[in-house]
This record gives sequence, C-alpha cells and structure tokens, in this order.
Amino acid sequence: MQKTPEKLIEIKDLNMYYPINSGMLGKSNEYLRALNGINLDIYKGEILGLVGESGCGKSTLGKAVLRLINPEGYVFYENENIPELNKRELKKFRKKAQMIFQNPYSSLDPRMTIYALLREPLVVHGIRDKNEINTRIHEIINLVGLNEEDLKRYPHEFSGGQRQRIAIARALILKPEFLVADEPVSALDVSIQAQIITLLKDLKEKLNLTILFISHDLGVVKYLSDRIAVMYLGDIVETAKAEELFDNPRHPYTQALISAVPSIHEKTTGEIKLTGDLPSPKNPPHACKFHTRCPYAMEICTQIEPEIIKISDSHYAKCYLCK
Ligand SMILES: Nc1ncnc2c1ncn2[C@@H]1O[C@H](COP(=O)(O)OP(=O)(O)OP(=O)(O)O)[C@@H](O)[C@H]1O
Ligand code: SF4
Ligand SMILES: [Mg+2]
Repeated sequence: MQKTPEKLIEIKDLNMYYPINSGMLGKSNEYLRALNGINLDIYKGEILGLVGESGCGKSTLGKAVLRLINPEGYVFYENENIPELNKRELKKFRKKAQMIFQNPYSSLDPRMTIYALLREPLVVHGIRDKNEINTRIHEIINLVGLNEEDLKRYPHEFSGGQRQRIAIARALILKPEFLVADEPVSALDVSIQAQIITLLKDLKEKLNLTILFISHDLGVVKYLSDRIAVMYLGDIVETAKAEELFDNPRHPYTQALISAVPSIHEKTTGEIKLTGDLPSPKNPPHACKFHTRCPYAMEICTQIEPEIIKISDSHYAKCYLCK
C-alpha cells in the first residue's frame, strides 16, 4: 500500500487584499484581492511547483505563507496558524521557513562580505559561538558549490549564478525545513539556470527540504516538481502530480499554458490558444474568472463560481467540465 504523504503546510481559505488608490491621508478604500480564498496542502519533502501568468498572485502566495505580508485566513504549520503568530513566535518560524528571490543581488547587502552575510542570520537567531558559526558557514558554502576563499569577497565580485548560490546559502544557513523559491533562475543565463536547478534538487535531498518553487517556466517546473499547482487571478485552478498534469491537464487554462510550450507538449490534449489579455486583477471577471478567455465557456461559467472537483486522490481542478 502506498504511504499517505504527510502534510507540512495546510493552507485554508487564504486571502490577501492589497490597498490601492490610497487617497488623502494615505487611507485606501479600494482593495485588490490578490489571493481569493486559497486552499492548498504542501507535503513534507516535496517540491511543489506554482505556475501561472504574471500578476496571478504567485509571489503573493509565497510571501503570505511565510508571513512576509499579512494575509487573512489559515496557514497551518505544525499546528500553528502562521497569520496569527506574535513577534516571538514569528522569529522562531523564520528559522524553519525561508525564501529566495529572483534577483539575488538586491537581497545581498553590497557592503558585507560573504562571511558576514552568512554570519548575520545566525547571530540574529542567537548563535554566538564562534566555532559553531564557522562550522556552519564552511558547511553551507561547500554545499552550495562555492569555495572557502569566497568568504572574504563581496557580492559584486560574483556572477549572477554565484550570487544566487550565496543567496541560497544565506537562506539555508539556519537549517530550515521549508523554502519558497520565487523565480530563482528567471534572471540567469539559460546555461546557468540548469546548474542552479540541479543544485536546488540536490540540496532538497541532502537537507530534507520541502520547497514551494514559483516559476512561469513550465519546462523548469516540469523537470523539478513532484506536484504542480496552477494559479489564475488569485485562484488555484488545478493541482496534480507533475506527470499527471502534463499528460492529462483538465482545466482549460492549464491546457492552454501547456499548449503554449511546444517542446513539452508531447501528448495532444487538444490545442487551446490563450487568447486575449489577462483581465485586470483589480476588476476580475465574475464566477469562473477564466470565462472571458475560455473556448468552452458556458452560461453557468459566467454566473456561478465552479467548485473544486476531485479527479483523483492527487488531481483536482476548478472547472465545470471536470464533473
Ligand atoms: N504591494 C502591492 N500593492 C498592491 N498590489 C500589489 C502589490 N504586490 C502585488 N500586487 C498586485 O497583486 C497581484 C499579484 O501580484 P504577484 O506579484 O503576487 O503576481 P505574480 O504571479 O508573482 O507575478 P509575476 O509572475 O510577474 O512575478 C498583481 O495584480 C499585482 O499588481
Ligand atoms: S468553468 Fe467554464 S469558463 Fe471556467 S474553465 Fe471551465 S469551462 Fe471554462
Ligand atoms: Mg512574482
């Protein structure tokens, strides 16, 4: 019998409203709903890919899970609800959950040496013993494929790929269990992308990590992920094991995304072209938000929001056609 995967994170009815058009006195009476009641589980030890067009809310979801922004709803992590943590609890959580970003340069203080950059999070979290600090720094610098001589150097002395290695080292120095990687290779040359992807896969195994991997590159996500979640205008519209998602995409939006990448579109699932622009998240379509671009849209799709339909134990989609 197959073992049921163990949940590390359970996201329930998670919403994020950004204030927009703030008027006089900085008060805003208009909001953009960037997360629309998200429900999503992340299992221990998996790489969950998160895909969708620009502006659909991927980074917002990553930041909301880590409480880098303040969402409404539930993100259960070891019986604690992250949006409700107080300052002290949040600091403890930061040791367990970290994020890496698209542009490693902006997250690395140019005035600090690599040694100082790696030491800082340890000190902030109360690790002051010099031997322990040095051991951890040497361990991590080797793990990410840099040299000990590099510790004396400054971020500007490194290439983009090496800087991303430094950012990864800094994120992992506290030995977290969970990592959000937000487009970590999008800014890098294609030849370097493969190296960083391989490194992440390798680190995941060695350090027993769980990773939420955000990307708009379906090829990368297919290669790296165990499971994939597809996002459209603040909704998760489909989740499935990576292979299943590509072999049997059920949501018309997923089908369109896959059709748009010829090299990974191996099986014919019916060509769907993604026509029209992404509607503004400030004023999204009613009911099924994809109805303005969906070739199969029916009357009901414009009136009542579809529920999430279970296709199999590991495959769900939010579309009337999946009933
Ligand atoms: N701080 C903010 N204030 C107001 N609106 C925001 C803010 N951050 C993001 N948004 C809006 O929220 C929506 C989701 O943005 P988000 O950055 O999460 O999308 P994304 O899927 O990560 O896009 P990309 O692929 O371009 O990184 C967008 O419409 C964006 O303009
Ligand atoms: S619910 Fe309707 S509009 Fe939405 S994706 Fe399905 S068929 Fe298309
Ligand atoms: Mg983003």
